Amino acid sequence: MRAVGTAHSGYVVSTVDPRLYGSFVEHLGRAVYSGIYEPGHPTADKNGMRQDVIDLVREADVPIVRYPGGNFVSVYNWEDGIGPREERPVRLDLAWHSSESNQVGIHEFADWAEAANTSMMLAVNLGSRGLESARAFLEYVNHPGGSHWSDLRRKNGREDPWNVRIWCLGNEMDGSWQIGQKTADEYGRIAFETAKAMRAFDKSLEFVVCGSSSPKMATYPAWEATVLDYTYNVIDYISLHMYFENHAGNTADYLAQNARLEDYITTIAGVIAYTKAKKRSKKDVYISFDEWNVWYHSREADRKVVEGRAGWPHAPTLLEDIYNFEDVLQVGCILNTFIRRSDVVKVGCLAQLVNVIAPIMTVPGGPAWRQTTFFPYAYASRYGRGKALNLSLECPGYSTGFAASVPYLDVAAVETGADGALTLFIVNRHQTEAVDLELALEGFGDRKVIMDKVMEGHDLRAVNGPGAETIAPRDASGASAAGGRLVASITPLSYRMIRLGA
Ligand code: AHR
Repeated sequence: MRAVGTAHSGYVVSTVDPRLYGSFVEHLGRAVYSGIYEPGHPTADKNGMRQDVIDLVREADVPIVRYPGGNFVSVYNWEDGIGPREERPVRLDLAWHSSESNQVGIHEFADWAEAANTSMMLAVNLGSRGLESARAFLEYVNHPGGSHWSDLRRKNGREDPWNVRIWCLGNEMDGSWQIGQKTADEYGRIAFETAKAMRAFDKSLEFVVCGSSSPKMATYPAWEATVLDYTYNVIDYISLHMYFENHAGNTADYLAQNARLEDYITTIAGVIAYTKAKKRSKKDVYISFDEWNVWYHSREADRKVVEGRAGWPHAPTLLEDIYNFEDVLQVGCILNTFIRRSDVVKVGCLAQLVNVIAPIMTVPGGPAWRQTTFFPYAYASRYGRGKALNLSLECPGYSTGFAASVPYLDVAAVETGADGALTLFIVNRHQTEAVDLELALEGFGDRKVIMDKVMEGHDLRAVNGPGAETIAPRDASGASAAGGRLVASITPLSYRMIRLGA
């Protein structure tokens, strides 16, 4: 089977916003406690943060991390997480039916973010709280001093403001599971007033308004139209979330699901364009895809805690999906979609980062380890920054119940800003056949293969574990670039990254 096409350096979709490769840490399960924070762990730093986890976050080069939720934020009092640790209250977290010790709050998380070489994207509680707590939190986090909340921050040990640029106005406010769920009109009003107040503090900040929690919501996409109608002129992004699952064990259908993701993005881009025209606005609004991942392996096991049949455990095992090789291919396809739609999707957050539906796992007192999906995520983040290119590619495909023509090869291309390399991210969805890829390279000058990595040949259900990272990239061979033409045989059910340099 052959796939033939052209990559042209002038066919630019967009410059990828590095924040497309962000992630997410929620106070949920073991993401924070025994995830990023474990005082007493052999690698713990002076703040009790695990250095082995920080090292892996740095390895993945995570540009931004959304915090502190998620559903959690809709019942969170940020003030509970400041001041002397021994005086912080234990709260019942209604979102995840757990106890929250508040031993980690904004100071500890900000220090961790600095150590992990990432920046913060903070969410405010528009569920159980509202404008007043949001504006106080902003003043605490971003004001230099000389006011009530900023002086309290200084008293609590942090002299300089953190200067957080991007703020989420609540989380999944359309969801029936959300504490303080709202109708689109209720949410549109409170989001508008909150953004207006926060902008009155600093006009240059960026705000993310909640879109639909998923395209399966009954209110989608009218929700977006209503919420944008209220907020268009005071916000910068609309947030979308999507999780992927393969309960049916149908690989062909599973690996085609990014067609649904593409539709979701296209539809909301249309709603944004409609609202812009309706408002006669000159301003652009983009998509913040601030929760996405595979999430289904652990759902059954989590019921007991989530339904409250386990009492109020602190940092229970929750959402600990163990990812297999099939999920590598899925994550590769999702990331490719984001690169191809980087004209409208500016921020993306892999949900989540540590232990909770995460690429990084930890054993309490033991090692941190990389899940199978760590690798396509880290590769995209490290090598997928620059100009996303619009490839033309003729490739045979297949149809599913929801997509008429899914090409066997899913490909995204980025001309990297840093070293000028052309990086191709390729997934072969074909279950038995290799696809011979031939790509004419135009406008790049002479190129040669400078890096070629592959994940292939594994059982689809194979997983990694502590001390056993067997599902990992290895050097590939056989790709060549000569005379302005790349040729590579892409093996069945494989993830491949080929980099072409001068
Ligand atoms: O990421 C896990 C949960 O999924 C988040 O808390 C919530 O926003 C979404 O439903």
